[in-house]
Amino acid sequence: MTDLWSYEMPSEGDGALSFPCLRGNAEANVPGKGFDAVLGRVRKQRGDLSGLLAEHGALLFRDLPLQSAEDFDAFIAAFGWPNFRYADSLSNAVRTNRTDRVFTANEAPRSVEIFLHHEMAQTPTYPSKLFFFCELAPDTGGETPVCRSDKLLERMREEQPMFVKRCEEEGLRYTNVMPAAADSASGQGRSWTDTLGTSNRGEAEQKLDQLAYAWSWLANGDLKVTTPVLPALRDLPDGSQAFFNQLIAAYQGWNDNRNKGEKSVTFGTGEAIDARDLALTSQLAEEVTEDLAWQQGDVVLLDNFMMMHGRRPFGGKRSILASLIGND
Ligand code: FE2
Repeated sequence: MTDLWSYEMPSEGDGALSFPCLRGNAEANVPGKGFDAVLGRVRKQRGDLSGLLAEHGALLFRDLPLQSAEDFDAFIAAFGWPNFRYADSLSNAVRTNRTDRVFTANEAPRSVEIFLHHEMAQTPTYPSKLFFFCELAPDTGGETPVCRSDKLLERMREEQPMFVKRCEEEGLRYTNVMPAAADSASGQGRSWTDTLGTSNRGEAEQKLDQLAYAWSWLANGDLKVTTPVLPALRDLPDGSQAFFNQLIAAYQGWNDNRNKGEKSVTFGTGEAIDARDLALTSQLAEEVTEDLAWQQGDVVLLDNFMMMHGRRPFGGKRSILASLIGND
């Protein structure tokens, strides 16, 4: 892959990222022409780019002439993949759409850490891939941690085989309380009306029944829901498996006025998970995690089945936009 971008192979052990960086060159940055050329190159190389993504779980595009949400939208469209609409999802996060397919990554306050997760793996429908775009890099912190779930699972099988066995055999269930009105102070603050696309209680109940959720209304108008049993592991195309779920984020991060992390996730039977197993899994994940420090204009493409992501707290302003890809 020459021209327009140079391709840097990941190198082990030298502190470099373990996934490829496709770095734009002078030709890519010719005013007026460079951006169209980049879009043409994506269209031509999307098969190769898909192959690289399947191998490494993530691709970083750096030094390309992307400046706005509209540029980001056009860049994503060049890949020709189906859009996965945030509005149709059961995501817990508060977000704001910037274009049809581009939205703010999460409106949670900057001091809030967003823990590692596979996007929407706590719901029955999830995207296959995600794009992130750095519109504005933060002054300090704000890295996006990324973690290969297949590698995490290998470590877990060594360190906590019985726990992995139970996750595999029993699956997981998630419980959360959705507020009646959006709570932007929380990473899980999306209202039930927005999440379920209706302000009518009967319609909300009908939708939850169709999805096989258990639910109950709280006196203050909030809605408590528990998912059906969802798998904790997922087979990857190369025959390996990933720890594909929302366990770490739910346990560590689903804490707000309505929710308590350690009560948010159980085995599929409803039985509580031992806090020591949850803590060990979180620790093993940190050991295989690397932090991506953003530069303005960066685009990252993640395979949602292989790679978890999160957000470190930050100082100053930070704007990361996101877009989701459906299943082919
Ligand atoms: Fe996310």
